[in-house]
Amino acid sequence: MNTADLIWLNGEFVAWEDAKVHVLTHAMHYGTGVFEGIRAYETERGPAVFRLQDHLDRLEASSKLYYMDLPYSKEQLREVTHELIGRNGFKSCYIRPLVWRGYGPMGLNPLENPVEAMIAVWEWAPYLGEEGKRDGVRARVSSYRRISSDSLIPHSKASGQYLNSVLAKIESLKSGYQEAILLDDKGHVCEGSGENVFVIKDGVIYTPPQTAAILDGINRKSCIQLARDLGYELIERDLARAELALADEVFLTGTAAELTPLREIDDIPIGEGIPGPITRQIQDAFDDALHGRAAQYAEWLDLVPVPSRT
Ligand SMILES: Cc1ncc(COP(=O)(O)O)c(C=O)c1O
Repeated sequence: MNTADLIWLNGEFVAWEDAKVHVLTHAMHYGTGVFEGIRAYETERGPAVFRLQDHLDRLEASSKLYYMDLPYSKEQLREVTHELIGRNGFKSCYIRPLVWRGYGPMGLNPLENPVEAMIAVWEWAPYLGEEGKRDGVRARVSSYRRISSDSLIPHSKASGQYLNSVLAKIESLKSGYQEAILLDDKGHVCEGSGENVFVIKDGVIYTPPQTAAILDGINRKSCIQLARDLGYELIERDLARAELALADEVFLTGTAAELTPLREIDDIPIGEGIPGPITRQIQDAFDDALHGRAAQYAEWLDLVPVPSRT
């Protein structure tokens, strides 16, 4: 992992190696944190953060669902993000804000523990590799089901909930695949370990609805809009497992993985077993939007202000 010079921790910019917390931090024991994964991309006008406001809104929503108030305003977090990218000198990077219950009483009631916050940035290649983005990846359907709202909160991006994704990811890697697709508690296709999923059949694009147990991805939302703007019919509905294998094309979207095609599911080639033309078209349009080459989507990019030299 590439490091950076500075991390922002509870209101201060500190050196990477000094960004420390107490071992009795509540979130370390019980997973009581919420976070975001965001990316800044290089554009002709300098680094630009993709849909920063949407990510901060989701951070606030995730936090609220776990009875935490953000300890800093979203505007402060936005400014810190800009400053952190500028001071670390990155042209593009991954951005990880985390808000958590800190050191205080132990036990399951977190309400007396302080709510703390940090933002870290680092340079990070696409999660499933540049190769994965280009050639597609192989996935298996996980034996683990996606968490359901009977027991947790799928719409909150909460740290403890990621044990579900971690188990699915380990299982997929140990059995020779690059990614896992999790079904929901009813057996419908839900999402990847850290990505939303899209299925293309006979020119129509399908994805599980926002009311499924998905994390409502910001890249998902963006690709839905892009696909519709490109003239495709896009339907949000439940998907049966077999629809993955019988699809013409499947792709995944997420901040870490960006838009990565799936070329095989459970050892069955999807379509021709290579990324298909509709996936490629959306991927190219998305790439243009992310790098500031599409005026139509300029509002998705939050340009990092150039520091003044005074
Ligand atoms: C479980 C899960 N689903 C979906 C996504 C995709 O969300 P986004 O596009 O906002 O990164 C992520 C990544 O944050 C995730 O962790």
